[in-house]
Amino acid sequence: MQLTILDRVDRVADGVLSLVLRGAGPLAPWEPGAHVDLALPNWLTRQYSLYGDPADRERYRIAVRHEPLSRGGSEYVHLFLRRGRTLEVSSPRNNFPLLAAREYLFLAGGIGITPILPMLRAATRAGATARLVYAGRSAATMPFTDDLRSSYGDRVSILAEDEQGRPDLAALAAGLSPRALVYCCGPAPMLAAAEAAFPAERLHIERFRPTARTFPPNTAFEVVCARSGQTVHVSPEESMLTALTHAGHPVPSGCREGVCGSCELTVLDGEPEHRDDIGAPANRMYACVSRARSPRLVVNL
Ligand code: FES
Repeated sequence: MQLTILDRVDRVADGVLSLVLRGAGPLAPWEPGAHVDLALPNWLTRQYSLYGDPADRERYRIAVRHEPLSRGGSEYVHLFLRRGRTLEVSSPRNNFPLLAAREYLFLAGGIGITPILPMLRAATRAGATARLVYAGRSAATMPFTDDLRSSYGDRVSILAEDEQGRPDLAALAAGLSPRALVYCCGPAPMLAAAEAAFPAERLHIERFRPTARTFPPNTAFEVVCARSGQTVHVSPEESMLTALTHAGHPVPSGCREGVCGSCELTVLDGEPEHRDDIGAPANRMYACVSRARSPRLVVNL
């Protein structure tokens, strides 16, 4: 974790605060699409995308929407966080990397604009053709619209749902250049619409919340911690993360829902059953949600 000072708090739209976190020295580097875990003083940890410029090593910028059904994170930020507060922030992690391309279509919904901002900046600086379609419930709730219009002009389409309706993703897909990659971050209905409209191999999405899916009933399995040699039993009623923590092998965690990547482990042997929404590579797994297909897993602990 890195210690930062909350240097600025600005209201950037209805219900959205921008926070500027300043490090005592250079902060850990990051690339567009990255997020950090912010440890709040109320003991909650929340993930926020970095929206500033990766070249600025002194500050991280995040934006926080006050969620009506807040589970305590956004409410604390909006009601209690004040300038000057010391806050711990993780090193950035990137589950949504920007792949090199000559053309991009960026789709952002509401606060999903935050990871897209540095992507759009990087794509434009690299000389790629980049277009942004940015949708929100109403103009007043959409942060950064003035900056986007002045920086990118007609390469940006801003659609307030109460005035212009939702973006027509099917029409965008029909007009998509065969060279373009699509990056989408926003609420679940927008991600589902994007998945229905665009070819999977060209669509990159980031979720804030897990998708609703059903899995086979949990079964017990064993986890062997390769470094200590200890074997930990994981019962059907508990997560692998909980079992490892109780056995004295705490694993870093953030969302505990399989969307942030904090609890990643390397699988050295055995077959994991992936239940995350990140897309774990074959030899990795996320201990908060994923389980085992084989009776035994060996991990790098
Ligand atoms: S804690 Fe976020 S993916 Fe496991």
